[in-house]
Amino acid sequence: MKKKLFVKTHGCQMNEYDSAKMIDLLQEKEDFELAESEEQADLLILNTCSIREKAQERVFHQIGRWRKIKEKNPDLKIAIGGCVASQEGEKIIKRAPSVDIVFGPQTLHKLPGLYNEKERSNENQIDISFPKLEKFDHLASPKAEGPSVFVSIMEGCNKYCSFCVVPKTRGHEVSRDFKDILNEVSKLADQGAREIHFLGQNVNNFKGMHNGAKSSLAKLIEEAAKIENIERIRFTTSHPHEFKEDLVEVYGKVPELVSHVHLPIQSGSDRILKLMRRRYNVDKYMDLISRIKSVRPEMSFSSDFIVGFPGETKEDFKDTMDVINEVQFDESFSFIYSPRPNTTAADMSDDVSREEKKERLSILQTRLSQLSFGYSRKKVGSIQNCLVMGQSKRDPGQLQARTICNRVVNFSANNVDLIGQLINIQIIDALPHCLRGTLHN
Ligand code: SAH
Ligand code: F3S
Repeated sequence: MKKKLFVKTHGCQMNEYDSAKMIDLLQEKEDFELAESEEQADLLILNTCSIREKAQERVFHQIGRWRKIKEKNPDLKIAIGGCVASQEGEKIIKRAPSVDIVFGPQTLHKLPGLYNEKERSNENQIDISFPKLEKFDHLASPKAEGPSVFVSIMEGCNKYCSFCVVPKTRGHEVSRDFKDILNEVSKLADQGAREIHFLGQNVNNFKGMHNGAKSSLAKLIEEAAKIENIERIRFTTSHPHEFKEDLVEVYGKVPELVSHVHLPIQSGSDRILKLMRRRYNVDKYMDLISRIKSVRPEMSFSSDFIVGFPGETKEDFKDTMDVINEVQFDESFSFIYSPRPNTTAADMSDDVSREEKKERLSILQTRLSQLSFGYSRKKVGSIQNCLVMGQSKRDPGQLQARTICNRVVNFSANNVDLIGQLINIQIIDALPHCLRGTLHN
């Protein structure tokens, strides 16, 4: 009988990608199948996130719930992967002895070996090393589960923004080989992928080797767009500092590249940006936005914001609100600053109260929601070329599509053959986070 596997994922798209790879690997190499519930599983895997304190706390709550299942089923194995695993290592097993295996983002390909060794020896297994890109040579063959597919093109980050744990948990930047990525894209296109979403913590600093020289994300996009049946290309997450001129120009050359980019500014105050070690100032960021818009006027932008960075004054916060109003960001993410272990910001003195931070976050989020709703409302009456992604989760009589600017559109249709096609939809209504439309011939 096949063993059963259950994976729970916290955090970013990179973690979602990694979890999908773990599942493929254990199904292909170890004959596991997916369990329908946690109670049925032989192996429970938690892919963790440590970007903020709250995310990290969730890990131990989850292990506590799984411990109860293990009490009833002592053969069950619990494996903890991802960024908390990478950061805490064996401390996880010390604090939570029900855990059997700890592995990091760069050692997930070793999971079958770690599991087998635990089964054989009953010794706990810990491997949170950083073997450079080795994992891509050991993963299962790529699979397209739907029309839009993630492809990781680089790993890690060297930026060391003063607030961020990622360089510590995911290691240094390493880019995959250019041709390997294009081969993967071709295979995925053959399986029905229509949209390729390139992933990396700092994706625009991709430097994969191509014909003996370092290449660029712009070049990769141009080549991927030539692959038959690839209709759309997107990428996350970009750092404004490394958004080079060839990447700006590619918006003018490659229609498959979508008209939306996630470009985190974090703060609108030059003083805070410096303390964050972000390597750009507001003028540079605004200049980049206008250069992209000059080649693609319909471009929409989203961002991440941190409020309440140590010492952020009312004026600093006002500067952030000014930038938000100027750029008119679409759907964005915003967080209260959370001190993280082994980061330089964690030692900075901070005289802003928790209450004040919460209030700033609420003001900022209210404005972002207004802008995003306003953006949606402007689309009502227009005809949008959309890629049909699948059935709506809430209502199977509805299909879900995305506009070229990344807005979700729900429309009534019983024809699942439309999934994976580019179609024209007339927008008839705007809700705060999505649009409603009807098929337009
Ligand atoms: N590579 C991406 C960011 C990855 S982390 C980039 O360069 O922008 C995702 C987001 O989490 C960040 O953009 C930031 O807004 C937020 N974040 C990271 N560390 C944080 C911290 N210590 N406290 C609060 N938010 C944080
Ligand atoms: Fe983190 Fe800054 Fe890198 S936010 S992921 S250190 S670019």
